[in-house]
Amino acid sequence: MSEPKNLLPWASPRDENAPRIDTSIPHSARVYDYWLGGKDNFEADRKVAEGTAAVSPGIVQGARDNRAFLGRAVRYLAEQGVTQFLDIGTGIPTQGNVHEVAQQINPAARIAYVDNDPIVMTHARALLRGTREGRTCYVEADLREPKSILEHPEINDVIDFGRPVALVIVGTLMFIADEEDPAGLVHQFTEALVPGSHFAVSHVTADFFPKAVGNAADAYRSSKLGFTPRSREQISEYFEGFELVEPGMVPVALWRPDEDLELASGREHGAYGAIGRKI
Ligand SMILES: C[S@@+](CC[C@H](N)C(=O)[O-])C[C@H]1O[C@@H](n2cnc3c(N)ncnc32)[C@H](O)[C@@H]1O
Repeated sequence: MSEPKNLLPWASPRDENAPRIDTSIPHSARVYDYWLGGKDNFEADRKVAEGTAAVSPGIVQGARDNRAFLGRAVRYLAEQGVTQFLDIGTGIPTQGNVHEVAQQINPAARIAYVDNDPIVMTHARALLRGTREGRTCYVEADLREPKSILEHPEINDVIDFGRPVALVIVGTLMFIADEEDPAGLVHQFTEALVPGSHFAVSHVTADFFPKAVGNAADAYRSSKLGFTPRSREQISEYFEGFELVEPGMVPVALWRPDEDLELASGREHGAYGAIGRKI
């Protein structure tokens, strides 16, 4: 087996437990981190991020709008009395992480974080400390294997699936290819939730700016990462058995915006956001 080209900067070569990750290969979590203005990215990630932004400049604001939607969605859910969050596709910790937003409203809120990128999990374990009253856990698992998440002992220690849960899959389902059946995977998760549970989603779409989003998808694909924009109709399939809360499925920047609606409306919309409540 060949040695990875780079070890993570905080990993001593003698540390046998250090994650051995090849940072010369771009990863979606780190590309997104770069667009958000984070520092947890490497040259290979920056190359993809800059190459994509060069042909689709709106993507940087789009990434920030998506992150802001996550914060507003979690705040809304916590204000509705939701106390348990299953966040799949956590991303590298940055401002407004799910437990920070939720526990600000309810310090006893419980959050299970799931991501399939070992780099994300290393950061998460180091940085995502919850309150004393609440609980958090971090599990490296893949959204394409719902059972490995729903039956994971650490997750079941934090989340009681017998009570309402907010399933949060924000900015992640576009990384699941059509042939992997994203709606079928989502349904395996939503079927495990009791009525009164919620489901928060954001998803890249080409419904509003097909050329810009198409350019971004092409540039991203050339890096072998790849994402699939989906239509309102396709994303709506995820919400089978759920009723959408107001304002329904809208561009992320327009979902209960904190800012002036007119200002948010002027943006290049590249992703839908929605929250449903299980009936
Ligand atoms: C664009 S980031 C979104 C982060 C965060 N949810 C947000 O919206 O700010 C997408 C995250 O999904 C993760 N991801 C992609 N495919 C995944 C999969 N099949 N299973 C679990 N996580 C996945 C990536 O590692 C990355 O951290």
